Amino acid sequence: MKKIIVASLLSGVTALLAADGAELYKKCVSCHGANAEKSALGKSQVIQGWDKAKLVTALKGYKDGSYGGQMKAIMKGQVAPYSDADIEAVSGYISALK
Ligand code: HEC
Repeated sequence: MKKIIVASLLSGVTALLAADGAELYKKCVSCHGANAEKSALGKSQVIQGWDKAKLVTALKGYKDGSYGGQMKAIMKGQVAPYSDADIEAVSGYISALK
């Protein structure tokens, strides 16, 4: 019995710590579309179909200022609160969208 409780507590904690790409993408939908099919504000490239590595490079680049076009300040604000693990998770999620 004790073991079961400990195990379920542990899995609860892991779920909290693991970054959830779908959850992280929710705030991106208004600009990029539910399936990443839109050009955000008519300015961004359509990111649907990008592979994970390309997305990670862009998002980390917005964060550290090494990537982006005229409207990069918008994206810097979006990804500023995201950890590297969050960026990996949301990129994995986007790369699977169709
Ligand atoms: C307020 C609208 C808005 C929101 C919300 C937003 N973006 Fe963007 N995104 C943009 C714009 C505008 C650009 C183009 C910026 C530039 O000039 O580089 C962009 C660019 C990008 C790019 C690179 C595409 C390119 O054109 O090079 C990626 C990847 C991206 N966004 C992912 C995300 C993710 C992931 C989120 C959610 C965490 C998000 N965006 C939230 C507006 C938004």
